[in-house]
Amino acid sequence: MVALLVAAGSGVRLGAGRPKALVEVGGAPLVATAVRRLQAAGAARVVVVGPPDDLEAVRDALDGLDACPVVIVPGGATRSASVRHGLAEVTDLDDGDVVAVHDAARAFTPPDVIRAAAAAVGGDVVAAAPALAVSDTIKRVDGSTVVGTVDRADLVAVQTPQAFRLDVLRRAHSGDGDATDDLALVEGLLARGTVAGRIVTVPGSVLATKVTVPDDVRVLEALIVEAATEGTP
Ligand code: CTP
Ligand code: MG
Repeated sequence: MVALLVAAGSGVRLGAGRPKALVEVGGAPLVATAVRRLQAAGAARVVVVGPPDDLEAVRDALDGLDACPVVIVPGGATRSASVRHGLAEVTDLDDGDVVAVHDAARAFTPPDVIRAAAAAVGGDVVAAAPALAVSDTIKRVDGSTVVGTVDRADLVAVQTPQAFRLDVLRRAHSGDGDATDDLALVEGLLARGTVAGRIVTVPGSVLATKVTVPDDVRVLEALIVEAATEGTP
């Protein structure tokens, strides 16, 4: 498995005054924790797509993480564009190879979850992602007015890494499609019949929670302390 780690966002909602991937959570920059865990999961190579103006800082943060080759490239204006920048770095790989696209903002995703997503791809499974059941009741609103309740029985919240057969990911990104995750682009291919196969979920983890706002950091740091106490950081 080769990993594309998208880390080029500016982290506006976190508001740390620097790119989110460089913010320290649990004692290390998110980008370093993410690379470390991808390597622990057996990645053969990690392509880090970093903030164009801060590539040197990303290089410094990743110094010494050499369990597998780490390549750093500049990102684009959107997450999807950043994934495409990463894909441009893996032209040497074969169509059938598995590529995992991961958010640096989900740096603490456990290696087991990363391995499970990658291992699920094969046969008719063209993509796989970790997911958690939705436990909150989900309302549809119009502004602040509640207009309905969404049946949550068949809803899940998906995380990253999302693993793909490389030819399918390449096709999903052959245009300038924009989506908040890559599965959505593959879902489009499946719906149009351009690609045959299916997408599956594997069990996600609360440790794979995305750091988006400051509260996420506080929750994650508490979880990390707890996981370390249990011996499974
Ligand atoms: N990302 C990226 N390139 C972009 C935008 C986002 O590589 N142009 C990455 C982020 O670095 C992050 C992941 O995509 O790892 C998920 O994006 P998000 O959580 O939205 O991060 P940011 O865009 O940095 O945050 P914000 O939207 O609050 O600015
Ligand atoms: Mg964003």
